[in-house]
Amino acid sequence: MTSAAAQDAAASIALRGVGHRFAGSAGAVEALRGIDLAVAPHEFVAVVGPSGCGKSTLMRIVAGLVRPSAGEAAIGGAPVDCPHPDVGIVFQRPVLLPWRSVAGNIAMQLEMRGIDARSEAGRISALVKLVGLEGFERALPHELSGGMQQRAALCRALVHDPAILLMDEPFGALDAMTREQMSLELQRIWLERRKTVLFITHSISEAVFLADRVAVMTPRPGRIAAVVPVALPRPRGFAVIEDRAFTAAVRAVRGHLDAAGMVE
Ligand SMILES: Nc1ncnc2c1ncn2[C@@H]1O[C@H](COP(=O)(O)OP(=O)(O)OP(=O)(O)O)[C@@H](O)[C@H]1O
Ligand SMILES: [Mg+2]
Repeated sequence: MTSAAAQDAAASIALRGVGHRFAGSAGAVEALRGIDLAVAPHEFVAVVGPSGCGKSTLMRIVAGLVRPSAGEAAIGGAPVDCPHPDVGIVFQRPVLLPWRSVAGNIAMQLEMRGIDARSEAGRISALVKLVGLEGFERALPHELSGGMQQRAALCRALVHDPAILLMDEPFGALDAMTREQMSLELQRIWLERRKTVLFITHSISEAVFLADRVAVMTPRPGRIAAVVPVALPRPRGFAVIEDRAFTAAVRAVRGHLDAAGMVE
């Protein structure tokens, strides 16, 4: 294998027979059952499914933060048993350190990897500008709105230029217009850097707009009901929503959600 090919292969995600059961305080909860899903290097896969079907749990398993009770997750063919260094994560809630500024929270990602954040100041300010937080670099998280915090968290996930991005409803706290803008930016970053992306969303149209394939999950215990390919050329602009292939994919995803017992 050439080194480029080896690097490529390192950016794959595979879930094989993944199941998970929580011993909750109100009794055991089976969150996931028999999940098989492979994300190829540089592929963008979106996951949609009803609330509580196990999407965040699935992402935490890939991130190495939850150990599945059955099956296995692998990154680059190696089983995941702790957080992988070449992964960037955007959690459903921003989880910023409250005592650190926006720039300080972003820099933490570099410090954890032993990279001198001062030498990367230019990269941090470019990202801050990209997400529209210019002028807030020194603000503390409690001085930001929910959407602004989420955008800071997005910078933190991108600053080390990871090969793999795991995103759990990253635009959930944003207004509709910013959300659309961020989708375009994410597509641009993805096209430029060819990252492997696992993207969780409640929005069917956002999933179809962004993804190469959309995995549809059933209600809990979450299983993969279907995987819908999206055959639309890139880069995609918002005019694509008029495209027949777009509406067909949206209809297919909705149909699978309906069949699985859930209407969004
Ligand atoms: N730490 C935990 N302890 C016990 N049960 C949990 C825990 N985390 C999640 N669960 C349960 O697992 C199930 C799946 O939760 P999860 O957060 O993965 O769903 P989700 O699909 O991300 O939902 P949403 O769309 O609302 O974010 C839920 O029934 C939830 O109650
Ligand atoms: Mg969730």
